[in-house]
Amino acid sequence: MRSLPVLKIGNLEINPPFILGGMGVRSTDHPLVSAVANCGMAGTIASVGLVRNVCRGQAYVDESNAGLTDEIRKSRELSNGVIGVNIMVALTNYDELVKTAVKEKVDYIISGAGLPLGLPALAKDTGTCLIPIVSSARSAEIICKRWWNRDKCLPDAMIVEGALAGGHLGFSLEEVPNWNERTLETVCAEVIKVARKYEEETGKHIPVVAAGGVFDGKDIARLLKIGVEGVQMATRFLATYECTLPANCKKLIVDATKEDMAIIKSPVGLPGRAIRNELVERVTRGEKLPISCPYHCLRTCDPTEASFCIAAALVGAHDGDDKLGLIMAGHNAYRIHEIVPVRQLIDELVTETLAELSKNTDDLTCTSGAV
Ligand SMILES: Cc1cc2nc3c(=O)[nH]c(=O)nc-3n(C[C@H](O)[C@H](O)[C@H](O)COP(=O)(O)O)c2cc1C
Repeated sequence: MRSLPVLKIGNLEINPPFILGGMGVRSTDHPLVSAVANCGMAGTIASVGLVRNVCRGQAYVDESNAGLTDEIRKSRELSNGVIGVNIMVALTNYDELVKTAVKEKVDYIISGAGLPLGLPALAKDTGTCLIPIVSSARSAEIICKRWWNRDKCLPDAMIVEGALAGGHLGFSLEEVPNWNERTLETVCAEVIKVARKYEEETGKHIPVVAAGGVFDGKDIARLLKIGVEGVQMATRFLATYECTLPANCKKLIVDATKEDMAIIKSPVGLPGRAIRNELVERVTRGEKLPISCPYHCLRTCDPTEASFCIAAALVGAHDGDDKLGLIMAGHNAYRIHEIVPVRQLIDELVTETLAELSKNTDDLTCTSGAV
């Protein structure tokens, strides 16, 4: 059987060229991460909130490091595939989590929710690939320029996350509804130009990976054709047996209609996309829920201003609270109608993508050589 082009990031070979997007809190822990890695995809552990107890300060830092170490080791025990970590810039314990991931020799670190300008200083030349998430050519340019000028280092890949993604979005609340005008393809094409410019100047190839609303093989083929070398997908993997999100929360996803997809103002300081439930309704109405700030997990959150505690809401979802838990999901979650095994989902995606690609062989020869 034909296979898709391999996504090469540094020395890593990812085939099929799909990365599991990190989903905190605990939706991308070792069962899902190892399952996708065993199918050739890259499996990303979300590093946020991997604590066993409610704790702050040094105890939070220590427990988070221990929790991340544990998830990395358990994933490695279950898979020899490509395994990395997602670490959000907005986290108070960002530096410590990066150091822990490097110490555990993860294959890559993906970093967004802010510009990861300090990442090379913490992790360059360690053997771990460094992959920023960007939402525009401007942010890609800022990162490349700063990393190159200050650290003589460039990203090993860049993930372009568009406005249809789940979780936090790198856009203002006003920009999100305009995603029809600025499609993921448009932004990817602009970021590819930035990557090519730095490749010409330095000789380093920076693969561009697309994320946000990538749903099926048609989407993947369309993106590969414009020169994207891989996709990052998250929401579809929430609806797999291997994902540890509780069944009642998965049911909200499977039952969701388009009208159930909501955008809220998150305490992270960015818009967030989630499934409509009691929490989303109350926050959208302008209600302020009681906050005790159990972890002090975000640099960007002011608990006196925030309308709810994002950590408590995400932990709540993972504990099965489908009313006051925050069930984050991408815009296309409403198109999911069943829970499936990881291997079945990946096989379907590969088959659909190959079918789409073979329909337009002529077009493929005109692309930037990604296919
Ligand atoms: C439940 C959920 C949690 C997420 N958590 C994180 C996170 O902790 N860090 C991060 O950078 N992105 C996070 N994301 C974004 C994903 O990694 C991914 O890039 C995005 O959702 C891709 O779009 P898709 O869900 O439409 O495939 C999350 C997404 C979801 C759905």
